[in-house]
Amino acid sequence: MRIYEVGPRDGLQNESAPISIDAKLRFIDLLADAGLREIEATSFVSPRAIPQLADADELMARLERRPGVRYPVLVPNERGLERAEAAAVDALCVFTAASEEFTAHNINMSIAASIDAFRPVVSTARERGWWSRGYVSTAFGCPYQGRVDEGAVVDVALRLLELGVDEVSIGDTIGVAGPADVRRVVGALLGAGIGADRLAMHFHDTRGTALANVTTALDLGIRCFDASTGGTGGCPYAPGAAGNLATEDLVYLLEREGLSHGVDLDRLLVAARHVSGTLGRPLGTKVGQAGGWRLP
Ligand code: COA
Ligand code: ZN
Repeated sequence: MRIYEVGPRDGLQNESAPISIDAKLRFIDLLADAGLREIEATSFVSPRAIPQLADADELMARLERRPGVRYPVLVPNERGLERAEAAAVDALCVFTAASEEFTAHNINMSIAASIDAFRPVVSTARERGWWSRGYVSTAFGCPYQGRVDEGAVVDVALRLLELGVDEVSIGDTIGVAGPADVRRVVGALLGAGIGADRLAMHFHDTRGTALANVTTALDLGIRCFDASTGGTGGCPYAPGAAGNLATEDLVYLLEREGLSHGVDLDRLLVAARHVSGTLGRPLGTKVGQAGGWRLP
């Protein structure tokens, strides 16, 4: 199992009050202490689009990278690529969506234009031997256009894989999917010949269906899930999107399923409490409130 932590990036990007670099770096360290090996650290996007992550250059310069831990960053264009190179990253993500309207709001491009913009980014990543991922947002529903066809998801995923990304992450950006939707969309992706090992699922728990969706995706053979410690998250360009699936809730479920993932729940809860302290609000996640469960 791979748990791909998005808390420092997706989790914090929508927070309006400024968060210090020290608090962000501490969060990332606590996540690594808990055993997470993939921690999406920040975004090299326009500071006007995402003010909270405007400190990405300094954050990456100060981040003490641990061996065996991958710290991917979001890169939307060549400007972002230059910043990523200057920061000596070795893993990046490009991001588009399955709906035209969300892509226009989020990155001010059509889906086709976004794929063109990513081509030099991904090809440079490959030349450098960096790991790369492509996001397909709004794969289950779009805040602007509503229904999203699974054919559109497959089409965008295939185009990203053709660019050469190592994997695609399929996002329920506004948290509307249920298990039947997961069977429909993941079924279409697998049916198009995309291996389960090239797919990650990115669920938001807006309506409380994220863990049911994880269970369904597990049954379909998916082995990588995105999650945010403390359950934070949202996107300024996705009105109505609430928190990501909380990493602590995911870890608990995987433990009960007997699946190994390398994360220590108690230590993860230390990171979750750090987030809640930093944001000045109580932890809203189930396992964050109840803790794990050990037989006496
Ligand atoms: N890093 C820093 N600044 C950047 C940048 C980057 N990667 N890309 C563009 N900019 C700056 C430009 O220099 C320009 O600044 P200026 O107005 O001060 O000269 C401004 O941003 C606009 O640039 P432009 O090329 O016209 O882009 P745009 O306005 O069409 O925006 C994106 C396109 C992709 C840069 C922007 O929409 C973006 O960063 N979106 C990210 C959204 C996001 O992260 N969403 C959450 C993840 S799902
Ligand atoms: Zn998310």
